[in-house]
Amino acid sequence: MLTIVRLGDAVLRKQASLIPDIDRTIADLAAGMIEAMHAGRGIGLAGPQVAELKRIFVTHVEGDRARVFINPQIIRTSTEQEPREEGCLSIPGVYADVVRPSEISVQAWNERGRPFTLDADGILARVILHEYDHLNGVLFLDHLDEKKRLRLVRVYDKRQKAAQV
Ligand code: NI
Repeated sequence: MLTIVRLGDAVLRKQASLIPDIDRTIADLAAGMIEAMHAGRGIGLAGPQVAELKRIFVTHVEGDRARVFINPQIIRTSTEQEPREEGCLSIPGVYADVVRPSEISVQAWNERGRPFTLDADGILARVILHEYDHLNGVLFLDHLDEKKRLRLVRVYDKRQKAAQV
């Protein structure tokens, strides 16, 4: 099982690289990421979260199937935005409302090397934007004002310390 890295690990802050070939290794990575996402009861997981600095993420929101996005590009975002609660498998136990575009279009390749375009709204649009951020070293906390971000990081640190005792 792939290990999910936590807040504080430098890999979460790095830029992920384009995947030049969608081969068996990448298909296996995608399958492993889906497995780790399901095990963590998450709805999305990005390469940097499993210490793979590659432009790949997976999603599985309720009512949808598991999806793989390789070398994704957000090609459209609605001007309409909405707040929605987010969490992250790399920052367990921390949740906050984040404002993001309500609807998006994304272009990517799947694990079989097929290109696709997807229009998404609601929770799927949300998770795609959240995971896409991970490929650029951005965490959902970065979208909050500084005061709220620092407060949540303190809560997280305290909880992590308590868990280690
Ligand atoms: Ni996340």
